[in-house]
Amino acid sequence: MTGFAATRLHDTAHDQNPEPVWQELRDNHPVFYDEIANVYMVTRHADVRRAFTEAETFSSRVYRKTMGRVFGPMLLQLDGKEHVRRRTIVSPLLMGVRLEAYHDLIDEVAAEVLDDAFADGGPVDVVATIAHRLPVSVIASLLGLPREDHGQFFVWYEAMMAGVWVDDEARRRGREAADELKAYIAPMVEARRIKPGDDLISRLVHAEEEGERLDPGELGAYVALLLTAGGETTDKSISNLSWLLLTHPEEAARAREDSEHLDKAFSETMRILPPLVYVGREALSDVTWHNVLIPEGRGVRLAIGSANRDERAYSEPDRFWPDRPDLHQGLERRPAPTTNGRASHLAFGAGSHFCLGYQLARYETKKAVELLLGRIGPGPVTVDSPGPAVDGPTRSVRELVVARG
Ligand code: HEM
Repeated sequence: MTGFAATRLHDTAHDQNPEPVWQELRDNHPVFYDEIANVYMVTRHADVRRAFTEAETFSSRVYRKTMGRVFGPMLLQLDGKEHVRRRTIVSPLLMGVRLEAYHDLIDEVAAEVLDDAFADGGPVDVVATIAHRLPVSVIASLLGLPREDHGQFFVWYEAMMAGVWVDDEARRRGREAADELKAYIAPMVEARRIKPGDDLISRLVHAEEEGERLDPGELGAYVALLLTAGGETTDKSISNLSWLLLTHPEEAARAREDSEHLDKAFSETMRILPPLVYVGREALSDVTWHNVLIPEGRGVRLAIGSANRDERAYSEPDRFWPDRPDLHQGLERRPAPTTNGRASHLAFGAGSHFCLGYQLARYETKKAVELLLGRIGPGPVTVDSPGPAVDGPTRSVRELVVARG
């Protein structure tokens, strides 16, 4: 077995192209202690899935130290029965027919964002003008916030996101933004309590499970969670799907003609370039895994990005191949099973904390890209982008300039 230096997980080569590093870890050190970050990193598909689904051993309470510190106690950091109780209250709100009721609104917001992006007829940076704007505008619209406040909402969003991953000063500003957001939402919550509408705040206020409701503090934290969990991630799924299609014109041509192919391209993007490549857990007891002891209380990093490229689950894992026969396509499933030779990607996690916004993310991302392909048209396009890079726990294309001709 070869040695592996932890520094290789923290250099520019890793950020630009993590695949070789992940492959080496999968093959030789499937559980690797990264002494720089002080976490045990898990890289194989079957192992990452196992850690996601064994919440009694691998707890998500580590979120207390990141998102929880910015916007207060929230769903992601809860465990066990308490988590199930809180999740059951909110889980149906953005699913199935309840989500379908919002489709027209989402279509309208997406069309507006695209109109703005293409307004001057010049080249368009898809990341800055579409991907970065759309998810926040969608959440703001679903919550029923007045249009003139969307700009302010975006400012809070950016401050909260920086607060989660940057330094103490950013965290302080992020907390302030979360407090301002909660104070802004509070009178709306009261108004919707008395007179509910069709918006998501009304649904949250009146959502109930066995007589239990969210208290006002929780409701504010939940809105902040929706904004941050759904904002930055969907931003990156729009960027990554756009980039993959625009750099694979034959796939783009098929996706333009056939919405089912666009759907497959979305699933394949979630596999090959998931927006979140790393998520954290804490070991609740000593675990010996692949001959490595993970002591109780230590951090574990689940490398989704690596799991989704594991050749034990997918053939030619580095190929963007929407027709691939070994990926579970269509709507994701919470247990992330491998059935009929098709393994689920792990971009939305698995098990008890499985993403609550996966249907919304899928709908919104496909809508944005469908409109984008329509605007660009079938003719030749010039695409300028440095390609995807890892930044903290995320991976995405940071700039994607397209011009016709
Ligand atoms: C492509 C876009 C998205 C990706 C890749 C994504 C990814 C994830 C992942 C990996 C988790 C699990 C984290 C863990 O177990 O540590 C998660 C949880 C969650 N996501 Fe998403 N997400 C996306 C979009 C959204 C959207 C649009 C919303 C809502 C507006 C949302 C709301 C949530 C919530 C509330 C949770 C916590 C669930 C719980 O703790 O029970 N996500 N997401």
